[in-house]
Amino acid sequence: MQKLIDILKKPAVQYTLLIGFLALVSGAGWMVYQTQVPPEQPIEFPHNVHVGLQIQCLYCHPGAFRQASAGLPTQNKCWGCHQQLKKYEDPSVQWPAELEKLRGYVERNEPIPWVPVYIVPDFVHFNHRPHVAAGLNCEVCHGDMSKQVVAELQQTVNMGWCITCHQQKTQDDPEKRAKLLSCETCHY
Ligand code: HEC
Ligand code: HEC
Ligand code: HEC
Ligand code: HEC
Ligand code: HEC
Repeated sequence: MQKLIDILKKPAVQYTLLIGFLALVSGAGWMVYQTQVPPEQPIEFPHNVHVGLQIQCLYCHPGAFRQASAGLPTQNKCWGCHQQLKKYEDPSVQWPAELEKLRGYVERNEPIPWVPVYIVPDFVHFNHRPHVAAGLNCEVCHGDMSKQVVAELQQTVNMGWCITCHQQKTQDDPEKRAKLLSCETCHY
């Protein structure tokens, strides 16, 4: 032990440790920064426009009600609506670049490779259904989508976030609390 302390007292060693420490801290800082900037998506899909048109979340994310995954719309689902928009029937009308990309995916019959934004690791069990059934709006966890273009991460999705809400929602139900805080509920 004394030997280790002696080594640590050498200025050159402290310097190396400091650099290592700084690299770690700035690395972590960069990760936080990275998760807060929305990932680049294959098409800049404007939620604000579509939510503003009163298209329901569940029309594009139908699994959120009944299943674990909310799901994302296919290129054909987008097209089913977009090909009917009268505005673009006139061949002289210039298509916006993002809709040209959509047309490309449809013509190539190629799924749009959307980049996931909200992710829980494989060893965690998250299911939309019980949450939506308990009356939690999408907005509680995903923020106001009428103000977002592509989805932006509004929550640090970690264990503390899940547990804090589970505690808040079960203040007067000890039985449910025990279940919602037990490890096996979220980890198999
Ligand atoms: C139920 C109908 C409907 C569905 C489904 C739909 N859209 Fe739209 N979308 C519209 C309407 C209406 C507009 C606004 C009209 C316009 O200006 O072109 C629009 C606008 C857009 C725009 C902006 C165009 C511009 O002017 O810059 C893009 C990009 C877009 N949609 C992509 C998509 C993609 C990708 C999907 C599938 C994930 C999709 N839309 C699904 C109806 C729909
Ligand atoms: C209690 C918080 C919570 C609520 C409420 C919630 N979500 Fe989610 N959502 C999540 C989490 C956590 C993930 C990441 C899940 C994963 O990686 O398996 C997610 C993922 C998603 C995804 C990504 C694709 C997928 O299938 O997982 C979509 C889309 C989505 N949610 C839409 C919705 C919609 C629409 C609603 C409302 C009907 C909603 N969510 C309500 C927490 C929530
Ligand atoms: C017209 C189709 C459409 C509608 C309506 C729509 N979305 Fe989306 N949503 C998409 C597409 C396409 C993506 C993938 C691109 C992205 O991440 O922004 C997406 C992504 C998301 C994500 C991130 C998914 C992930 O990968 O983690 C969430 C959360 C989400 N939507 C929630 C909502 C909510 C809540 C509403 C209603 C207020 C809604 N969406 C309405 C098409 C739609
Ligand atoms: C905003 C509040 C909130 C957040 C955030 C939240 N939950 Fe929940 N969760 C609930 C409520 C409320 C219930 C209880 C529903 C009921 O049975 O009444 C629940 C139930 C559950 C259940 C039990 C489902 C069943 O089958 O009974 C699991 C598993 C779960 N949540 C996992 C998670 C995970 C994992 C996260 C984080 C990624 C999370 N939850 C985040 C509110 C939340
Ligand atoms: C309400 C859901 C929920 C409950 C209950 C829960 N966890 Fe987690 N746990 C998560 C989520 C989500 C993650 C992944 C995100 C993260 O690492 O914070 C996680 C991650 C972990 C990790 C990995 C940490 C890491 O840094 O990779 C361990 C270990 C863990 N949980 C242990 C436990 C134990 C032990 C319990 C019971 C005392 C428990 N969890 C209860 C949701 C939960």
